[in-house]
Amino acid sequence: MKYEKKFAARETFRILILGLIFLVLVGAVIWKESRPEYKSYQQGFIEILPDYMDPSLGLRDVSLGVQQIYLPRADRVDRCQTCHLGIAWKGLETAPLPYQTHPDPTLTWVHPIERFGCTLCHEGQGYALTKAEAHGLVPRQYWSKPILPKEYLQASCGKCHNPDLMENDAPKLFAGRRLYLEKGCIDCHKIGQIGGTIAPDQSNLARFSIRYLLESVLHPKANDPDSVMPDLGFTEERAKTLLVYLLSLDETYIPHEYKTVLQQ
Ligand code: HEC
Ligand code: HEC
Ligand code: HEC
Ligand code: HEC
Repeated sequence: MKYEKKFAARETFRILILGLIFLVLVGAVIWKESRPEYKSYQQGFIEILPDYMDPSLGLRDVSLGVQQIYLPRADRVDRCQTCHLGIAWKGLETAPLPYQTHPDPTLTWVHPIERFGCTLCHEGQGYALTKAEAHGLVPRQYWSKPILPKEYLQASCGKCHNPDLMENDAPKLFAGRRLYLEKGCIDCHKIGQIGGTIAPDQSNLARFSIRYLLESVLHPKANDPDSVMPDLGFTEERAKTLLVYLLSLDETYIPHEYKTVLQQ
């Protein structure tokens, strides 16, 4: 009898503790949900705005909350603008990131943001609303394509444009493609229907991390001294140029209407 009472008291105590833990967890979730990261960036935008724009522009001109561009044919929802609020504005060219007007107005003129979104060029995770997730700075098992660092951004042009025609518009991509042909990579590797068969197919190289690709080009014999893949003694700079082209080899689905005539 006495034992049972003691037992019951102990159980009640346990249930109480569990209940408390549960409450704290629910509270933490509610607290976190009620102050999403993007809100502080949006607040920051409102604060810097008067430094760049006519002060008569009021809050009413800024759309707050989640901003998104829906690209049904490309099966993408890009919410990057939620934090990059000034990206399509004029006058914020010298504002700090993430509020800056998009650089290179000609580029956004030929590829209007409403039709192209952001991730078709930048990669990253369009749907995400935290910086770490959107930029893809999370372990690769969750997201395969982090945003392309600026030095490799021209790789994206090659997904829709023929690199051989991009000498002026994407010179790094063009140079990378030249290097690939000159060094005979295509004699062993295959891209699409073209190339050799003794080495892995490279039609979808963009699925690999930048670090892995760079290592494979700079130190091809690091893991296997007997590899037939030649060590061509690339400088890091040349290897990076080559990588701009390698990263453009991407089989991610991009619908027909986003491709230029010569890539269809
Ligand atoms: C939660 C807010 C947030 C979201 C969402 C977000 N960004 Fe950013 N982004 C930032 C901030 C803040 C910076 C400024 C630099 C920094 O802090 O890293 C930045 C910088 C950048 C830069 C320039 C610096 C760099 O690292 O290359 C690019 C490009 C960029 N973002 C692209 C994107 C794209 C593409 C998306 C959507 C897939 C996106 N961002 C979504 C907050 C965000
Ligand atoms: C057609 C391809 C394309 C599209 C679409 C595009 N960008 Fe860019 N973006 C670029 C290129 C190329 C640059 C680098 C321009 C330069 O070097 O001056 C750039 C630069 C940037 C930068 C500045 C990076 C830095 O380090 O200073 C940010 C931020 C950025 N883009 C965000 C976005 C966001 C957000 C979207 C969607 C609303 C978007 N971009 C749509 C190609 C694109
Ligand atoms: C998602 C596909 C896509 C990406 C990525 C892309 N473009 Fe385009 N681009 C197009 C389409 C579509 C047109 C419209 C012209 C057409 O249909 O031929 C175009 C037009 C252009 C034009 C106007 C002249 C022309 O060739 O028609 C230039 C210049 C250009 N793009 C440069 C770039 C650069 C530089 C990049 C990389 C930063 C880039 N593009 C990334 C699809 C893309
Ligand atoms: C003589 C044939 C040969 C040539 C030429 C060659 N490779 Fe390779 N490469 C290989 C083989 C075989 C592998 C598979 C891994 C291994 O055996 O080391 C490989 C692997 C790779 C990888 C690792 C990713 C993957 O697909 O497995 C990259 C990246 C790569 N090569 C890039 C290049 C580039 C860029 C060039 C031109 C500068 C080039 N290769 C020239 C034979 C070749």
